[in-house]
Amino acid sequence: MIIAIDGPSGTGKSTVAKGVAKRLGFTFFDTGAMYRSAAWMILQEGIDPMDVEKVQEAMGRFQYEIKTDDKGERRYFVGPSDVTEAIRSQPISQAASQVAIYPEVRRAMVKIQRKFGHAIDAVFEGRDMGTVVFPDADLKIFLTAKPEVRAKRRYRELLSKFPDLGRSITFEQILHEIQARDENDTNRSISPLKQAHDAVLIDTSDLTIEQSIEKIVRLKPCRKRRYPPMKLSYRIVYSMARFFFKTCFRLKIYGLNHFQPGAAVLAANHASFYDPPVLSISCPEEVHFLAKGSLFNIPLLGKLIRVLNSHPVERGASDAQTFRTMVQLLTTGKKLILFPEGKRSPDGRLLPIERGLGFLVQKAHCRVIPAYLSGTFEAWPPKRKFPKLFGKMACIFGTPIEWEEFEGFEKREAQELIGKKVEQSIRDLKAWYEAGAKGTPP
Ligand code: DC
Repeated sequence: MIIAIDGPSGTGKSTVAKGVAKRLGFTFFDTGAMYRSAAWMILQEGIDPMDVEKVQEAMGRFQYEIKTDDKGERRYFVGPSDVTEAIRSQPISQAASQVAIYPEVRRAMVKIQRKFGHAIDAVFEGRDMGTVVFPDADLKIFLTAKPEVRAKRRYRELLSKFPDLGRSITFEQILHEIQARDENDTNRSISPLKQAHDAVLIDTSDLTIEQSIEKIVRLKPCRKRRYPPMKLSYRIVYSMARFFFKTCFRLKIYGLNHFQPGAAVLAANHASFYDPPVLSISCPEEVHFLAKGSLFNIPLLGKLIRVLNSHPVERGASDAQTFRTMVQLLTTGKKLILFPEGKRSPDGRLLPIERGLGFLVQKAHCRVIPAYLSGTFEAWPPKRKFPKLFGKMACIFGTPIEWEEFEGFEKREAQELIGKKVEQSIRDLKAWYEAGAKGTPP
């Protein structure tokens, strides 16, 4: 379960998030510390934080690790260096706010954060947790407080830590700095600080830390229903087909933890007419697929595939029309089954993946869930007229591939990279299954 807490600095966000995590027994992640650590590396390497090219290039070298010390406190490492204290300095605050503007930096951070949040109970605190990193978070909170209150808190905190600072720094300076940082964080074009439409707004101006924690814990974060309910007709056909494949083919499904809510292309290997139904009924929620228009005219089959959310591709329909249908399904949050090799493999071996998949992902801004289907080729290879009715099958879902990973690449390069990544992922899933299917699929 993920709780996302966003808001500007000085709202008590970190302390509140930490407290909520403690009360609920969740893991706590301070994502600001990640941006600060990146800024630390930039300054350490003598790079000007305003130099976008150099900063983005440096992110390729960013190695970030979180360790827990003997007292249970978290320590942040960049490579071998413990930066836990160093990242709290004023120059780092400013540099972090600057480097957080750059797409390459954000992309790297989002990737790390999603990896950290995979399949655990955690409280993530930052600026874009509810809007970008975890749009499906189980509970979203947006904390605010008046700038004057935040400046007062920060001023007091600084003076308690460094009493001598009172002579060199004024309350007005802190206020000015907070306002400048708000401006930077709110007005950047990529992932600006903003309240997610489904976040609960809490103003902490007149609340103590304890009261803020209490308010959040009382919201009774409960696990969101992970999958939307199925239509009755879909559920009936789905259950019958599932019973058939589970009984006759001992169908096993792996990697459902990779199955996330929201739009996605389900991209699998394809070597059998059994693939579309097996992939559909392996999914825990309704999925959609495209089928030849002529199939819809066959009396019973036509009705059946309509119930199963297949969409007709009319004879003579252009690729552009088909593509538009797919984009429309994805942009309305649906899951779409796609066999990206473009045709059934004649010998069961994975064919090269066509660039159309990458093109679709770029247009629809969706993730790809790779899947490997085992045993369908043996049960009904392309050369065989009639299928076998017994055998052994498996469907394995892999780690989702997010479109943001390819955002900064040139379009054609990104399309090829997406295809290659999906191809590799399907191969890895096959290797994982054939090596005994131990643990979680890659
Ligand atoms: O929360 P903080 O002050 O430690 O964050 C440091 C900087 O990092 C802040 O200026 C905004 C940026 N940041 C961000 O852009 N996105 C996040 N999720 C967290 C922090």
